[in-house]
Amino acid sequence: MSVAVRSFAKINLGLRIGARREDGFHDLRTVYQTIALHDTVRVEAGRGMGIEIRCQSGAVPCDESNTCYRVAERVLRALKTRGKITITIEKRLPVQGGLGAASSNAIAAMLGMEQALKTQIAPEEKLRIAAEVGSDVPLFLVGGTILGMGRGEQVFPLADLPPIPCVIATPALGVSTPKAFADWDKLAAQAKMPGARNSSHAAKLTGSNGSDTINGFSQSVLSWLWSSATGVSAMGGGRAEAPLLDLVRAGIENDFEQVVFPQHPELRDVKRVLEGAGAQYASLSGSGSTVYGLFPSKDAAQKGAQKLEASGTPAFATTTLPRREY
Ligand code: C5P
Repeated sequence: MSVAVRSFAKINLGLRIGARREDGFHDLRTVYQTIALHDTVRVEAGRGMGIEIRCQSGAVPCDESNTCYRVAERVLRALKTRGKITITIEKRLPVQGGLGAASSNAIAAMLGMEQALKTQIAPEEKLRIAAEVGSDVPLFLVGGTILGMGRGEQVFPLADLPPIPCVIATPALGVSTPKAFADWDKLAAQAKMPGARNSSHAAKLTGSNGSDTINGFSQSVLSWLWSSATGVSAMGGGRAEAPLLDLVRAGIENDFEQVVFPQHPELRDVKRVLEGAGAQYASLSGSGSTVYGLFPSKDAAQKGAQKLEASGTPAFATTTLPRREY
């Protein structure tokens, strides 16, 4: 039986990096938001044995390191079953793009396997497997607007933002997430050195081991949740746009911009183009290289995407995807 599953992307509405933990991961806080752009993952279960990954994109590894492969072997083990599983990834999303494409592909493969094998995996087992395969895999079991904590694998569904028109700019460069975290550590270490200027956000990490910055993020999200729950926008403004504007004005930022923009100044330029085109909020997604902008209307988003395309940056006008649609 062959099953096709859409594998939607995410963006990060703010991302604060905390201390490097003993296990080498970093504590973080982020708000994930799923968007309508997607790959398609096809799962086929047949006679025989083994897992085969197919993808036409040369940038995607088709060996055991592929997230779909890693999920598939864990699912087979959890179900105590065998069989020949063929997973075909139809790529549309950028690789190493900060959109969580590989992680999303992994969940699509898991859900596809459930259908193809006509079985169900217990929810807690799905979460366990997802978290084992990657920090930003579990979010794709939830979808919509999600609070991410721990190393990003602890996910909490938030009151969903309404669909928001957005532009996803995908400059043709990949950013390695482990390298971006390592660069962040270097920046934080520099800020600790005697005589270092104490003005950057990284400098705030010195005394606090990063806890101040991620606590600040939690407070911003809390005040945003409060205004969503009570219907009273702390910042004023109409009800329809208040949740987004409150979140934006609460001061969400992506810490990765501080290490990625200096290395790839063209990404900062893309953010400026989006802001200039009328984005209410523009930011790097994850560790990049995707930069997105949230727009007040579909029309404005379309024009923003055209502006970027005209300057040579691939860009898509799309919309954020609430949980129900996800
Ligand atoms: O969990 P995932 O496999 O996606 O992480 C890839 C790498 O990114 C990790 O090996 C680690 O170097 C880095 N990382 C981190 N802190 C996180 C998430 C990822 O340092 N919270």
